[in-house]
Amino acid sequence: MDKRFLIANWKMHPVGVKKAKEIFSGAKEKASRSKNVELVVCPPYVFIPPLQEEYSGKKIKFGAQDCFYEERVGSYTGEVSPGMLAENGVAYVIIGHSERRELWEDDKTVNSKVRAAINQGLKVVVCIGERQRDPDGAYFSSLRKELEESLRGLHRSELHRVLIAYEPLWAIGKTEKEAIDPEELHTMKIFIRKVLSENYDKNVALKVAVLYGGSVNSANIEELLKGDVDGFLVGRAGRKPEEIKVMLEVLNKK
Ligand code: PGA
Repeated sequence: MDKRFLIANWKMHPVGVKKAKEIFSGAKEKASRSKNVELVVCPPYVFIPPLQEEYSGKKIKFGAQDCFYEERVGSYTGEVSPGMLAENGVAYVIIGHSERRELWEDDKTVNSKVRAAINQGLKVVVCIGERQRDPDGAYFSSLRKELEESLRGLHRSELHRVLIAYEPLWAIGKTEKEAIDPEELHTMKIFIRKVLSENYDKNVALKVAVLYGGSVNSANIEELLKGDVDGFLVGRAGRKPEEIKVMLEVLNKK
């Protein structure tokens, strides 16, 4: 895969638009020299239009952190549809982040959202990851289930819209030393591709970007890249322009 991804999930930060613009303008500057990396900025919904107004370039794409499973409009108080995102300049949506799965989303909900978002032409970052690891390796089968259920019903021709973010829960929000080690990451990437090729075929599976998320930052990104993933989904480091700069440099290198 020649393109790499850096997806910055801002989560529920910051609280005001002024700060959001500050972070974004830092990212914008750092992204301008990036060549082969797709930088996707995923702020809270309210900040997307004001940030879009500040940007006319092509290096940064906008993403949302979630969407609803009804595609366009309807009586669903509080929800945002994938159609709204697609029609308003948003290219990507993260679905099934573990923090949403912790709240209430199960694989079935995630699957409905994935399908709706794909129907509306969005690129979908589907998050999967085990809560903890057991010595017998049962987490492989729970991961397989999560992956298969989240993608259920997708046609092979739709898979080019899907990116998989492998985010083990035990590695999220920790220090960089607690992130996964590159060899294990490589094993997980191969496993994810294997499950995809069993469900579709090898050629399709090879084209699906597999990303890693969980305590990635400028200090460990180079090491983690040895796990041969196609990019990273970052939380905290994605809200710091200086971190973004170094991470983009590393991803642009090879
Ligand atoms: P973190 O978050 O990079 O702050 O660990 C990652 C995530 O939750 O996607």
